[in-house]
Amino acid sequence: MLRPVILDTDAGVDDALSIILALRSPEISVRAITTVAGNVEVEKCTRNVALLLNLLQPRDRPTVARGAAKPLKRNLVTAPEVHGKDGLGNVASRRRIAPVKTKSAVAVMGELCDSLGQKLTIIALGPLTNLALLLKQKPRALRMLKKKPRALRKVGRIVSMGGAFHVPGNTGPVAEFNYYVDPDAAQLLMNSGLPITVIPLDVTEQVVLMRREVEYRAKRRASAVARFVLSATKQYMRYHKRTEGFYGGYLHDPIAVAAAVFPSLMEIKKLHVEVETEGKLTRGMTIAESHRSGAPRKPEVHVATKIDRERFLRFFHERLWK
Ligand code: BDR
Ligand code: CA
Repeated sequence: MLRPVILDTDAGVDDALSIILALRSPEISVRAITTVAGNVEVEKCTRNVALLLNLLQPRDRPTVARGAAKPLKRNLVTAPEVHGKDGLGNVASRRRIAPVKTKSAVAVMGELCDSLGQKLTIIALGPLTNLALLLKQKPRALRMLKKKPRALRKVGRIVSMGGAFHVPGNTGPVAEFNYYVDPDAAQLLMNSGLPITVIPLDVTEQVVLMRREVEYRAKRRASAVARFVLSATKQYMRYHKRTEGFYGGYLHDPIAVAAAVFPSLMEIKKLHVEVETEGKLTRGMTIAESHRSGAPRKPEVHVATKIDRERFLRFFHERLWK
């Protein structure tokens, strides 16, 4: 059986590349794409997912479900300077997409966790708000019985793109964007004891996709998807040129998809992770601690520390330009 997955996304440019990769990966079956406010507002995220599904026309169309419109406790921070006002490098705003009627993301995630349990992987490409809401949810009857078999406890694995441990942040000096936007959700998940793999900037910034390579491959391929990739990535790559000094882009979210499809691409460490929720200057910062023998055991997650760059890029290009 193909591994069932949910993609939970804030539908920016690198999220779009991830959705293409995931839908073109025969090892997994994307059952649902749930949206969460982050790179752009959640309505735009949901519209972007609909646009991508129209473009890709997958044989088995995943359920689309709209999620949280704002973080657990804070106002939403978006990133139009990175992803464009529409989240897709201003490609989506030029296309007409019928508004999508959807179920709630938390409900869809809960149902899939209940029915698929351990077999299910959730790939979280944005702030962890939807997952935190699902984790906190207690059906009324269970609350009265004081029992808590919450649906998310049944999931096989959660792969979350987020955090920055030994590299500078990309949202202020110390925080990565997804955990900066909803640090409270990230902190809740990191301390939940759930099977989580964290893919931080330390790993995602080990790989760069250069503009000239996208141009070269898109011209050779000349398909609608290739044309979309060429235009949707333009502003994203210009942003990196201005801020990082190279004309290209990081592949943060595609690396999270790759980690879910081929976990052996990553080297990992089991660590206890805290996310800063109080600090004025350090909101969303991730702090990792190894277990010291004799000390009481704290919840741990798998933190990726290294990626097999060559294998990842082969996987990425083979599927993106198929
Ligand atoms: C993360 O933030 C978003 O802008 C990207 O889509 C990615 O999920 C990188 O920090
Ligand atoms: Ca994202």
